[in-house]
Amino acid sequence: MLYKEQELLPLRLKTGKEVDKNIISDRIQKITFSATLEMTRRSRELKAQGKDVINLSIGEPDFDTPEPVKEAAKQAIDNNITHYPPVAGFKELQEAIAEKLKRDNDLDFAPDQVVVSNGAKQSLSNIFWSVLNHGDEVVLAAPYWVSYADIILLTGAVVVPVQTTVEDDFKMRPDQLRAAITDKTKAVLFNSPSNPTGMVYNHEEVKALVEVLKDYPDILVISDEIYEHINFTGMHVSIASFPEMKDRVAVVNGVSKCYAMTGWRIGYMAAPKFLVDACVKLQGQYTSGPGTISQMAALTAIKNPPHNSDYIHHMVRAFKERRDLLVEKFNEIPGVISYVPEGAFYIFPDVSSYFGKKYGSYEIKNTTDLSLYLLNEGLVAVAPGEAFGDDHCIRISYATSTALLEKAMERIKDALAKLK
Ligand SMILES: Cc1ncc(COP(=O)(O)O)c(C=O)c1O
Repeated sequence: MLYKEQELLPLRLKTGKEVDKNIISDRIQKITFSATLEMTRRSRELKAQGKDVINLSIGEPDFDTPEPVKEAAKQAIDNNITHYPPVAGFKELQEAIAEKLKRDNDLDFAPDQVVVSNGAKQSLSNIFWSVLNHGDEVVLAAPYWVSYADIILLTGAVVVPVQTTVEDDFKMRPDQLRAAITDKTKAVLFNSPSNPTGMVYNHEEVKALVEVLKDYPDILVISDEIYEHINFTGMHVSIASFPEMKDRVAVVNGVSKCYAMTGWRIGYMAAPKFLVDACVKLQGQYTSGPGTISQMAALTAIKNPPHNSDYIHHMVRAFKERRDLLVEKFNEIPGVISYVPEGAFYIFPDVSSYFGKKYGSYEIKNTTDLSLYLLNEGLVAVAPGEAFGDDHCIRISYATSTALLEKAMERIKDALAKLK
């Protein structure tokens, strides 16, 4: 699989002696390095060699954390809020999150139904480890965010992808969901706005999926809403807001994307108490509660209602302008099938018409070949769709300046034109 073997070997013990890769557990050998982080690593390497690489593979806003949030962190240090936190997060933060869920999403969760973790990634991981047994199935729409599949695989459970396409705007249809459910299905995972496609479900579409799930009351629903506010439709619909889902939905969210706080590592989940208790048990043994300073910073971010936030409006407006630019540029490139993403900060065009083409020693057989070609020849890092469960498309993050995006699109266009 992608990027696996060469990264694991050789390992060295402290003695400097090479060890056999067999020392690494089967479990870890089964999963892959994150393809997006790998592309970022490679582009940093090229940059270190003096190459002018534009990195569009990274999934983080290019904005800075808002000033009041940084101020809250400085105060936390000065006030010595630096001791072990409660495992599920500070009570004040749990309360602010419960209020946010009511304020922004009309969801009723008590503060003790909230668990704060080291990023939404850990919240998801806590949930997967808490509910999945070997052989259980998790249904999710493909293309999907890279880490879902690997974390699920780690637990011994099985990913059941529902393939969506650019022609369907990457939306899972109710009949597809029903067909994917078996007696082994333990959970269904939703992610709207979506990484990597930018797809956003509207109210009617979520309602139709809820209608299917009503027939399967034992299935847990996991809703990853990390891109909630980066939504150009003006309407975020949480599947948790449907009364039928109330007692079996885990909402996952965090501050990374909407408050440009990726490095602070604060995410959270809100869920029924049985699941919360299991996740707290796991987190208590594994990492303890997340960093106190980051929690105090997140508290300030979350207390700030997004509709009053110039910061979020400014960021979303900028992302929308960049999205429009990329849609226009991709429409000018022959053989690329594009669409209009409605949220997040990614576009996922279908580039499969370039498969089978060559330039010099490059032969493009799949999206990994194409991504490596674009990186080495075009000096633009994009993420291969293969890692997201769709080997027709590439993911481009437009969380970078318009000037750089224009330059990157020129390079992509030129590099693709050389392929014959
Ligand atoms: C869909 C999705 N969920 C979760 C995460 C993880 O976010 P965090 O930084 O809070 O761990 C990401 C980050 O890229 C994401 O794209």
